[in-house]
Amino acid sequence: MSLTTIVGIAALRARLDAERASGRTVGFVPTMGYLHAGHASLMARARGETDVVIVSIFVNPLQFAPSEDLAAYPRDLAADTALAEAEGVDVLFVPTETEMYPDGVVRTNVSVAQVSAGLEASTRPTHFDGVATVVAKLLAIVGTCRAYFGEKDFQQIAVVRRMVRDLSLPVEVVACPTLRDPDGLALSSRNIYLLPAERAAAPVLHAALLAGRMAIDAGEVNPAKVRALVADLINAEPLAHLDYAEVVDAETLQAVDPLVGELRLLAAARFGKARLIDNIAAGS
Ligand code: PAJ
Repeated sequence: MSLTTIVGIAALRARLDAERASGRTVGFVPTMGYLHAGHASLMARARGETDVVIVSIFVNPLQFAPSEDLAAYPRDLAADTALAEAEGVDVLFVPTETEMYPDGVVRTNVSVAQVSAGLEASTRPTHFDGVATVVAKLLAIVGTCRAYFGEKDFQQIAVVRRMVRDLSLPVEVVACPTLRDPDGLALSSRNIYLLPAERAAAPVLHAALLAGRMAIDAGEVNPAKVRALVADLINAEPLAHLDYAEVVDAETLQAVDPLVGELRLLAAARFGKARLIDNIAAGS
């Protein structure tokens, strides 16, 4: 089947309702576009597991703070369409801002307590309300589906999972592993902001997390020591400006001391104009 691009909410609903009525399952990959191989891996997973694959592209203003890169966020609908087509996507949903927010204001805010605090929220306090609100809206539009999210945005998955559970949305959330360049840098639409020297420095984020995991594997149970080890490695890179280095419980994202059970190491740092995040699993 060939790719159909749909702009309107009503048209998308009609198409997906018809698909489900004829017994086909829906796989949904929400994105902000400027698609890369990481996004493609989510589409491929959806393609393998569901009958009708829909990808949304919407640069959601609600999740950007006034100081952030909303206006500069990279966009390339022609390249995105080609990538989606190559991945066998059936429907590309590209709503305009007016289609999503007709009055230009949103008075309903979806806020997921606890998992939306700390980590990313320490420097981006309103970010996850913006994500939860738009994802709730997109899931309300798409309806019953499996929805695919990347572990690269680990806290985002925790927020979405909790929201889906709390609101009884008819959605199964599927978490997919992070795709990386060969030097370890996680693929991200924001990597294009990196100047050559910053791009060369950026793999330190992943390398530092791996060193943290090695320390845990070697028996370190003191979270402060692991945090300091990861932070010191990132701070040793002159082009990196650390936001946070953390080790938390993989399920609750809360602090854990001593370090036991399933853990997640997460870090964020700025390299020039790009703010990059990364995380890996650690512990049992
Ligand atoms: P965006 O940053 O475009 O990412 C869309 C999806 O691709 C997310 O689930 C993200 O985790 C996943 N992804 C990004 N880089 C990846 C990589 N290197 N490997 C695997 N998956 C990767 O995340 C968003 O958009 C938005 O917040 C959104 C959920 C669409 C709400 O606006």
